[in-house]
Amino acid sequence: MSNTSEAELIHMFKGILFTARSSPELLKSLDTFDAREDDVLLVSYPKSGTHWLAGVITKLYNAQVTLTSPIEFGDISKLEELNKLSSKRIIPTHLDYNMLPPNFKNKKCKMIYISRNPKDTAVSMYHYYRDNPNLPTIDTWTAFFDLFLKGDVVCGSWFDHFLSWEEHENDKNILFLFYEDMKKDLPKIVKEISLFLCLNVSDNDIQDICKKSSFSQMKSDTEKENSDPSHTVCALTSNRKLIFRKGAVGDWKNHFTPKQNRKFEEIFNEKMKLSKM
Ligand code: A3P
Repeated sequence: MSNTSEAELIHMFKGILFTARSSPELLKSLDTFDAREDDVLLVSYPKSGTHWLAGVITKLYNAQVTLTSPIEFGDISKLEELNKLSSKRIIPTHLDYNMLPPNFKNKKCKMIYISRNPKDTAVSMYHYYRDNPNLPTIDTWTAFFDLFLKGDVVCGSWFDHFLSWEEHENDKNILFLFYEDMKKDLPKIVKEISLFLCLNVSDNDIQDICKKSSFSQMKSDTEKENSDPSHTVCALTSNRKLIFRKGAVGDWKNHFTPKQNRKFEEIFNEKMKLSKM
């Protein structure tokens, strides 16, 4: 648990909560970010499988790319740092569609959006909050559940995030993926990603990538790494155990009470009434 006050850990920008690791100066200057046509964006609401997808994509490119930390993490020097990279950039982000630097949209950069059952996302985020000193202290699951439903958590409301991107689901440069589909048939999704990215990958390579991207393999690989957290997909912690927790579908059933489930469903149905989900 953290002794640092909540105000030091998080701040609000354009109505959305960000951690102190996203400086207001950086957030303000994102609008002027110079995208490159061959940038690939890896977009997600936190705890939706970002690391998993990043692991698959970097393996598909076979080390010819640089996986950066999320574009919104860091201070103003971040943009310069990204500008200096000479290799192709795979850039993660938790920004909603409206806050995305317009240059990525104008240049029709390829973007992959990964989503996950919001109930499992909420549970994953609860554990992440609870064990991460860079986030406000959370006393109970019940308290976190209420914050999540109100969107009073970092990156804002899951519903608003999802809906802002779902509106662009049919844009040719955006691929929509679901965590649950990756759990069900990873080779099929890896094939889909490779076609979207115009990469020629053999079935044998796909099998190999899937093996190396299993939860247990990724967990043990990252525990051996000694990377500077400010240069990783999850720039908020160097504790890899916080990221590779359980990797399961349906863990929400171990946390939600029947009453919480009813409340969640009610709000889900209301907020998502225009969604195709
Ligand atoms: P849990 O907390 O439910 O275990 P993100 O990368 O967006 O932060 O998401 C983290 C979630 O993805 C965690 O969920 C983590 O365990 C899960 N995850 C990470 N790698 C995975 C993998 N290879 N297979 C399945 N789930 C994975």
